[in-house]
Amino acid sequence: MTSRSSLVLEGRKSHEWAKTRMRIIDRIIKDLSTPKALPLEGIRLGICLHITKETSVLVMALKAMGAEIALCSANPLSIQNDIACFLKDQKIRIFATRGESYKQYHDNMLKVIRFKPEIVTDDGAELHLMLHRYWSNNIVAGTEETTSGVTRLKELELGRKLKYPIIAINNARTKFLFDNRYGTGQSTVDGLMRTTSVFLPGKHAIVCGYGWVGKGVASRLRGMGAIVTVTEIDPIRALEAHMEGYEVSHLASACLYGDIFITCTGSYRIIRKEHIDRMKDGVFLCNAGHFDYEIDIDYIRSQDRKPKEIRPNIQQYIVKGKCVYLLASGRVINLVGAEGHPPEVMALSFANQMLSIVYLAKKMGSLETKVYDVPEHIDRRISEYALNSFGIGVDQSNGKSF
Ligand code: ADE
Repeated sequence: MTSRSSLVLEGRKSHEWAKTRMRIIDRIIKDLSTPKALPLEGIRLGICLHITKETSVLVMALKAMGAEIALCSANPLSIQNDIACFLKDQKIRIFATRGESYKQYHDNMLKVIRFKPEIVTDDGAELHLMLHRYWSNNIVAGTEETTSGVTRLKELELGRKLKYPIIAINNARTKFLFDNRYGTGQSTVDGLMRTTSVFLPGKHAIVCGYGWVGKGVASRLRGMGAIVTVTEIDPIRALEAHMEGYEVSHLASACLYGDIFITCTGSYRIIRKEHIDRMKDGVFLCNAGHFDYEIDIDYIRSQDRKPKEIRPNIQQYIVKGKCVYLLASGRVINLVGAEGHPPEVMALSFANQMLSIVYLAKKMGSLETKVYDVPEHIDRRISEYALNSFGIGVDQSNGKSF
């Protein structure tokens, strides 16, 4: 049993390590703060993110900029307990324990709501949706990290039900071009390999969805020697995948030969009974989307009430006499089976969070109730911070056009 103090120490080491890979975060604190004024002085922030070493760097940065913080997790299985202990030790109000039940997970969100935050940062929009149910007058604005969350918030906006302005962090180019594509690409393969030790060369990997996440996952799997098939419903994306050199097929055909299936769509019930029943013996099923509804897990569970726990995050089900390995219970494999995106890429996403939160704090009360994109000047500034930190310069336009 790991003691609390050793968890704090482990968490501190991981936090410090991530910080060295996320230098732009410190740079931003320095640029926005003066000895007399902190940009978030006294602002009450409610945060619902995956509790990782990278998130700890963001949280400590927001604290250093003067914010009061309450924090819960965007997923009960993605919590890194050493990081949770470290943050608690740093006097952050954190409500999260790895493996917490669904009820605890919701109760922890309610604790963040009871903290009466003024600005709320979410990943997946669970906390935003809960705030729309248990309305608190304190809220002035919010940010949303991920594609699935932004989709849900846009639906609220469309139905005129949105209650406060929200910046869609996901829609910044310095977020989705890097985090969704390269971050998820690398960390999903990392999660798959840490969980299963699977040897990828020659394996048929079926990537469902060719958005930014699917693009990243397909490219990294191919780079490791897998033979990749893409399935899509959007003809333009399917054409893109084809021109990129992937096999593009219906899932109804790919289910017959795939060894590994990875859902990257953000949509409901992509892999269903009619596919699972026809798969080969011993396939791996996993999900890279935010929610655990892309694979019809209820169907798999209905076929075998007593799955075998092969090892952490591998459950073996027998379906129609064949073995199906469900990874990470169909939850987001990169965070449950590995450590999520690497710090370098999270630095970009979290720089967007920091600058957007400061922007919202400045604009307090003056924004319309809608879903905003990250302002263009913030997006560009982050690319400059990042290039600068990598020691890369870019040319200036000579101002001439033909
Ligand atoms: N989402 C994906 N990877 C993440 C990470 N490392 N930290 C926080 N949120 C994430």
